[in-house]
Amino acid sequence: MISIIVAIAQNGTIGDKNALLWHIKEDMRFFRTTTSGHPVIMGRKTFESLGSKPLPKRKNIVITRSDVEFEGAFVAHSLEEAIAMADNDAEVFIMGGAQIYAQALDIADRMYITRVERDYEGDTSFPEVDYSKWKLVAEERYERGEDYDSPFSFLTYDRK
Ligand SMILES: NC(=O)c1ccc[n+]([C@@H]2O[C@H](COP(=O)([O-])OP(=O)(O)OC[C@H]3O[C@@H](n4cnc5c(N)ncnc54)[C@H](OP(=O)(O)O)[C@@H]3O)[C@@H](O)[C@H]2O)c1
Repeated sequence: MISIIVAIAQNGTIGDKNALLWHIKEDMRFFRTTTSGHPVIMGRKTFESLGSKPLPKRKNIVITRSDVEFEGAFVAHSLEEAIAMADNDAEVFIMGGAQIYAQALDIADRMYITRVERDYEGDTSFPEVDYSKWKLVAEERYERGEDYDSPFSFLTYDRK
């Protein structure tokens, strides 16, 4: 199964200047527990936004058009090649950024969306989604986080 995992602001933004716009402990925890033990696929810019350090306990696959190597990560030159490198794991996670999400939307089976219920100004947005093709299968809403004072929801969508 191919799953997209993303946190999206109310106005669609997901990042600015190659960084996240918010810090929500619950979301970091959700991301870690959901993806741990599974391969994660990301674009070169998202890998750099993590300080070019691979996420532990996961096979990290970085997509780039360049002929480069990244310590602790596998390099792929297309999304298809990245998915092939994931060795048929039961669940493979596409973890951004916008360029990679745009290419993965048509092939993903599931989306884990953290909906941040606030607008954020940013230079990067999640691509337009046709929600008529997706069924909401799980929803968990928080009025606020431990260290975050706006509401957010964990939404899971499966392709219809
Ligand atoms: N809110 C969230 O959940 C979330 C999650 C992840 C990222 N983000 C944010 O998203 C932003 C980064 O997103 P982004 O769209 O700018 O960059 P990105 O998707 O992370 O990476 C783009 C790079 O991926 C490579 N690439 C893309 N398509 C390719 C293809 N078909 N074949 C080979 N290589 C390909 C290229 O690398 P080369 O230039 O090296 O060729 C391209 O420059 C940051 O602000 C980050 O914080 C947010």
